[in-house]
Amino acid sequence: MNTLTNKRILLGITGGIAAYKGAEIIRRFQDAGAEVRVVMTRAACEFITPLTMQALSGHPVHVDLLDTDAEAAMGHIELARWADLVLVAPATADFMARLANGRGDDLLTTLCLATVAPIALAPAMNQAMWLNKATSKNEADLKDRGILIFGPGEGLQACGDTGPGRLLDPEQLLQHCSEQFSSGVLSGYNVVITAGPTQEAIDPVRYISNHSSGKQGFALAEATVEAGAKVTLVSGPSQLTTPDRVERIDVVSALEMLEAVMERVATCNLFIGVAAVADYRPIDPKAHKIKKDISGDNLTIHLIKNPDILAAVAALKDGPFTIGFAAETQDVIRHAREKLERKNLDLIIANDVSDVSIGFNSDENRTTVISKTETKPLPLMSKHQLARKLVKMFAEYIEKR
Ligand code: C5P
Repeated sequence: MNTLTNKRILLGITGGIAAYKGAEIIRRFQDAGAEVRVVMTRAACEFITPLTMQALSGHPVHVDLLDTDAEAAMGHIELARWADLVLVAPATADFMARLANGRGDDLLTTLCLATVAPIALAPAMNQAMWLNKATSKNEADLKDRGILIFGPGEGLQACGDTGPGRLLDPEQLLQHCSEQFSSGVLSGYNVVITAGPTQEAIDPVRYISNHSSGKQGFALAEATVEAGAKVTLVSGPSQLTTPDRVERIDVVSALEMLEAVMERVATCNLFIGVAAVADYRPIDPKAHKIKKDISGDNLTIHLIKNPDILAAVAALKDGPFTIGFAAETQDVIRHAREKLERKNLDLIIANDVSDVSIGFNSDENRTTVISKTETKPLPLMSKHQLARKLVKMFAEYIEKR
């Protein structure tokens, strides 16, 4: 199934006659659920206008690296971080050469250098240019660096020649791009994920909770299902939409979350605890609203410790591969490693929530993956990008176990 639901595709258009096909690519990708933003080289603007691309994509088109207006709206680094995938279609011989050489001499090459998202090129050029040794060498160098090359197709060319160098059809590009998001690395896995906050009742109208949005847990549920797993998401209160093909179990309190997890964990082989479970709950939640005229100026609420769901799963005999998250505000790595050992986890993902740009409610995250023997810091990226990256890493760690 060719789907790009909720995927952010940065479409780069370079200066070849096939540039006009960018219009159709935008349409097909949007139909498949993607959000598309467009970056054009100056040469591409000779073939098709940015205005056309702006009207189709619904967003301003970015052309110049040193454009203060565009930078103020969405700077090039922001754009590089925004993308889940960069697709350059058509990619000319000159663009491939500049990228192969690590140049950052225009907006599109600079974005390709700055992004942590996968980059795919769909070459389009005259057949002799494609077959030229210089282009073949550039193609090999780009592939070596992990850059994907889609096509080119063969057939009659705009210049009258016949041979390799035609831009793949939008439908073929859609298929190749959607395959990037459905890796299959967790196919056959049964995964339980906890997400969001828990709410601990004080009385029928009040509760203790935290700022967790559920974004990272929901993104992981989406990435694990796309990696081929069967996924159950046990979620505390959250407004987020359930990702396709994910079974969602809504809970409110830590005790409900524990019960929902324990009912399902026996048949799962991967457990990921992302939820920000409240550490304590009121020992004696009141049946009726606490009245301030009766309680006076000081009110004491006695709390009792909640069970640790993650540690309970990790303690199971023949239990699943168990992964936790550690939101810390200081001495992040040391505290996270201490939790990994104390809770007997296979992996822990540490993040610094004292930085509001990567904390609970933000769309971005910077984390460190910690195993018993390794510490791997990851760069800042969107929670969706991070989820896909983590899923690949999880599959590798599970393989090694
Ligand atoms: O100990 P701390 O709360 O910092 O640990 C965080 C990790 O433990 C997260 O993965 C969280 O989902 C999990 N956790 C849990 N049950 C608790 C507390 C934390 O599953 N009661």
